[in-house]
Amino acid sequence: MTTQLQFSLRTFGKTNLQITPIGLGMMEFSGGGKGLLRNAFPVIPQEEKNAIVKAALEGGINWFDTAELYGAGMSEASTAAALKASGKCNGDVLVATKWWPLFRTARNIPITIQDRLRFLDGFSIDLYMVHQPLGLSAHDKEMMAMADLVEAGKIRSVGVSNFSAKQMRQAHETLQKRGLPLAVNQVKYSLLDRAIERNGILATAKELGVTIIAYTSLESGLLTGKYHKNPELLEKKSSFYRTRLKQGIEKSRSLVAELEAIGIKYNATAAQVALNWVVSFHGETIVTIPGATKVRQAEESAGAMHFRLSAEELARLDELSRAIR
Ligand SMILES: NC(=O)c1ccc[n+]([C@@H]2O[C@H](COP(=O)([O-])OP(=O)(O)OC[C@H]3O[C@@H](n4cnc5c(N)ncnc54)[C@H](OP(=O)(O)O)[C@@H]3O)[C@@H](O)[C@H]2O)c1
Repeated sequence: MTTQLQFSLRTFGKTNLQITPIGLGMMEFSGGGKGLLRNAFPVIPQEEKNAIVKAALEGGINWFDTAELYGAGMSEASTAAALKASGKCNGDVLVATKWWPLFRTARNIPITIQDRLRFLDGFSIDLYMVHQPLGLSAHDKEMMAMADLVEAGKIRSVGVSNFSAKQMRQAHETLQKRGLPLAVNQVKYSLLDRAIERNGILATAKELGVTIIAYTSLESGLLTGKYHKNPELLEKKSSFYRTRLKQGIEKSRSLVAELEAIGIKYNATAAQVALNWVVSFHGETIVTIPGATKVRQAEESAGAMHFRLSAEELARLDELSRAIR
């Protein structure tokens, strides 16, 4: 494996915002914050967060995905602090964050944007997403409120997350009326979860020129192979993760073995091969945002952009993954 990026930059949909195929997911920085996820993650000291972000930057990652939900400002604020600790200023990297719609109407969007900007402490919002299609207002009202934020210079582009193919198309049409593209739909996608290939989300994204941001592409660590080798690591995970991971071990065993076997040629880990597949198999449409709780993980995720799987290897993994039930 070289230390050079083997992928060219992509864009968030039809915007001019240029991103590496792999960004860093910042949900892991939620611990110690407030709200729904406050207890879902261990607290990572800020010095460790700084080192994780530094490793990602040094490996070539140029964007970071956070959200209001991730500790109600904790993830956003500590991401900004970590970027500053690495000497980064606004404009040096791209930042994506998300509005949390539960029990809220679109009227909340222009109100809470001030909180997002305050927590991001000088970093612009390059991409602002509606986190779930669960708000109390119609989606076109949410998109109109997002378009107002673009016009007011508070955000640079608009995306959605967890929207169906139909909801995505509607969001795209509403934004078009304001002369804006729908930049992204952020959804779950991995070698073990390829639902977007069957439910119309991926086909719609390709047709409309919307980028798919794949989340949980490592299946919360399962595709790294660490739970296959050391199942006792599961005892340290919260019950929510433990059950899902335990169930996944047997069915993913042959896939993980193949990820490891392919990795030997590139001096790459199973995790790196899995991420490389996600950002390669559908051309430029899919980018991904692995999360990291340790420096080594951020290094590995960035390193997944330092080699290219062959067409034959991509196809072999496709076939193996399709065979898993
Ligand atoms: N829009 C949405 O609804 C939504 C939903 C979920 C996630 N997301 C976004 O997607 C990002 C990633 O998703 P995710 O955290 O659910 O799943 P993921 O990226 O599949 O898994 C991340 C976890 O895997 C482990 N890991 C990562 N790299 C590793 C490596 N090289 N070796 C061994 N273990 C490794 C770490 O867990 P340990 O702590 O156990 O080491 C890490 O927290 C989040 O940070 C967030 O930004 C969005």
